[in-house]
Amino acid sequence: MAGDLAGRTAIVTGGAQGIGEGAVRALHADGAAVVIADVRVAEGEKLAAVLGERVRFVELDVRDPGDWSRVVTQAESAFGRVNVLVNSAGIAPVAPLVEYGAEAFQHALDVNVVGLFHGITAVVPAMRRAGGGSIINVGSIGGFRAYPLMSGYITSKWAVRGLTKATALELGVDGIRVNAVHPGQTDTPMTDGADFDTAHVALKRVGHPADIAGAVLFLAGDNSRFVTGADLVVDGGDLAGSANWDSVPDQSAE
Ligand SMILES: NC(=O)c1ccc[n+]([C@@H]2O[C@H](COP(=O)([O-])OP(=O)(O)OC[C@H]3O[C@@H](n4cnc5c(N)ncnc54)[C@H](O)[C@@H]3O)[C@@H](O)[C@H]2O)c1
Repeated sequence: MAGDLAGRTAIVTGGAQGIGEGAVRALHADGAAVVIADVRVAEGEKLAAVLGERVRFVELDVRDPGDWSRVVTQAESAFGRVNVLVNSAGIAPVAPLVEYGAEAFQHALDVNVVGLFHGITAVVPAMRRAGGGSIINVGSIGGFRAYPLMSGYITSKWAVRGLTKATALELGVDGIRVNAVHPGQTDTPMTDGADFDTAHVALKRVGHPADIAGAVLFLAGDNSRFVTGADLVVDGGDLAGSANWDSVPDQSAE
């Protein structure tokens, strides 16, 4: 049975794995045609082959405006229109501040912020032709607080929130909504081997790509038609709690 997104086309960056793959699967299951756009060619092509109909893989480095125009052209020629963009591609360099290096810092900004800017500017003409659209930027709860050893990443994720609001303000007149989804600790290849800390998380578990995909689906479809410029935190209550859980009184005490 066709879902709410039948007849619409979504481009998902970072769609070959992790949170992006979760979004690809959910959008496709809801009826959308999906373009998986990623630097990981083998993984992206494999996922496209598994899902079959209504899915294409196109190689994309989000830092390259030429790649972006190819992705949008191919999406329109394959499926007729572009209605949804999910910017999930991201990197997370980890190192102490003085060892981080300007190159890694710049790399985080280039992929996690400038890559989103290129994507948004590339899809706007196509979304105008389609009569509107929905852009979903994947930020992080690291855009609300800081973590050590991630100076470039944290800086980039705070910037995602600013970019989301600035672009939402300008694009509303075109019927294009721009929102951000901010995952908490999520089990993906990016966090492979990570020492997750869920003691202070309300729901006492890490997230999975399908958890984040629920929020992406909401923002992609018409149920969020009056939502733009918003930050949607999807973290099981991580931000709501205290990272310094040891300082909180024991709730089990009489
Ligand atoms: N996993 C988490 O705990 C978590 C938490 C908060 C936010 N996030 C954010 O969610 C997004 C997805 O993360 P994930 O956990 O799925 O990571 P992941 O590493 O599993 O997947 C990221 C994908 O982005 C692609 N990518 C990287 N650089 C690219 C580039 N230059 N051009 C195109 N594609 C590129 C990778 O090839 C990969 O397929 C990121 O923006 C990340 O910062 C993740």
